[in-house]
Amino acid sequence: MKEEPFIGREAEISVLKEALSRTEEGAPKMMLISGELGIGKTRLVNEARPHIEEEGFTYLHGKCYDKNSDPYLPLREAFDRYEHKEEELTPEVTGFFSAYPSSEHEDTRILRGEKKTMFHETLRRIRVLLDEQPLFVFLDDLQFGDKSTLNLIYYLSVNLRNEPILFTGAYDEEELQTNPPLRRIIQRMNEEGVLKEIELKSMTFGEIQTLLEKLIPSTGSSTKLIRFLHSRTGGNPLFIKEFVRYIVDEREIDLESFSTKDIRDISMPGAVTGILNKQIEDLHKRTRNVLQIGSVIGRKIEYPLILQVTDIDEFELLDELDTLTEKKLLREDSEDSFWFTHPLLMKVVYDSIPKLKKRKLHERTAEAMKEFKNKKVYINYLELADHYEKAGDLSLAFQYYYKAGKECEKIRAWRIAVDSYDKALQVIEGQDGEERYEEKKDIENRTKFLKDEIKEQEGKRVA
Ligand SMILES: Nc1ncnc2c1ncn2[C@@H]1O[C@H](COP(=O)(O)OP(=O)(O)O)[C@@H](O)[C@H]1O
Ligand SMILES: [Mg+2]
Repeated sequence: MKEEPFIGREAEISVLKEALSRTEEGAPKMMLISGELGIGKTRLVNEARPHIEEEGFTYLHGKCYDKNSDPYLPLREAFDRYEHKEEELTPEVTGFFSAYPSSEHEDTRILRGEKKTMFHETLRRIRVLLDEQPLFVFLDDLQFGDKSTLNLIYYLSVNLRNEPILFTGAYDEEELQTNPPLRRIIQRMNEEGVLKEIELKSMTFGEIQTLLEKLIPSTGSSTKLIRFLHSRTGGNPLFIKEFVRYIVDEREIDLESFSTKDIRDISMPGAVTGILNKQIEDLHKRTRNVLQIGSVIGRKIEYPLILQVTDIDEFELLDELDTLTEKKLLREDSEDSFWFTHPLLMKVVYDSIPKLKKRKLHERTAEAMKEFKNKKVYINYLELADHYEKAGDLSLAFQYYYKAGKECEKIRAWRIAVDSYDKALQVIEGQDGEERYEEKKDIENRTKFLKDEIKEQEGKRVA
């Protein structure tokens, strides 16, 4: 792989530049960059660094590691770096942070008073620095920020309103719910009008293409590969890079001749599974169970269906779905359905279900689905067949693939009909007691007829 290309994000960079040019006009004082893990928050700010320094700002950065780590650590880290850089100006902002109590002691009134003095004093010291030069302070991974740090950041952003300083923070939106102090300061900064938010979106098809061309110039731009990456990774650059690394280095698949066959054997790179597993690891057992059932139902989870498949109380189920939505693992749409926010997440959850449980869940889903005929008939049959196949009931799977094929014929969806018939034959192949001579004969005749139809149609199109 070549050096690290950077794609797109022009709009976001210009928002940042605009904010830099207006630091002394009051707002915004805090730029908050949000988005899922791996979407490119840290990278975006790193890329903007040369520009920030060209504008005469001293670039400081610190990072939150853990809600329970030392208070003010990210700020201390940022200002420490500053001290190392400019020996003449060491106003001991850093040493100052460490002398003060953490959030654990927040409740005692004396400490509260002390803390106020400390906030004041920090403000004063930063002002001294600002007399010398403008500052840009990047605080990464605020989702792990402790209460003391977050409160101080809030205090500084409000009180340095008209000073040449810009704070920029980044946080994983999936984690926002787990950090109430962060939620609170976001709300308060909004009320104070000092906040500007940038939500980083996934890469588009075109951007993935450009990234790929830069990563491996020899690929040209295999549309199949881009489509595969787009659907698998949801346009997350971290996942895209992991997939590409995995496909090239571990699987040694030639990307130039990347084919649908290759796609079928590509599993998930370990790093990606690791990241996604972490997201579901901490869920309560009941919540995880609901998510697992969802993954059996599919990317779109119709509420009546999941209600039927789970046997928990309706309001408990709604609570669990609510938790999952808050954690951004699912999102709700206007038709009472829930969606996995990430296709990969669904796969990881699905893969985490033990074998027998998975079979039983497919069986239950199929049974429940029979009552909901809210889709086109053939789709319904195809889904049912798929659930029965995964439930291990090959006889019913056969029956529904066969039915789906016939329904497709009725609406002249010939290719899907052929695929359904193929599946029907596949599922009973070599199964004892599943000879079904007549049905097989019928399927063979139908398939032959359909293939001729398709050929003829293609001939017409070419002519
Ligand atoms: N716009 C981009 N173009 C190319 N690569 C990117 C882009 N944004 C992020 N990346 C790459 O994706 C990976 C994850 O980015 P990172 O900034 O660490 O994500 P986050 O901070 O949101 O978790 C890194 O390897 C980074 O270099
Ligand atoms: Mg990051």
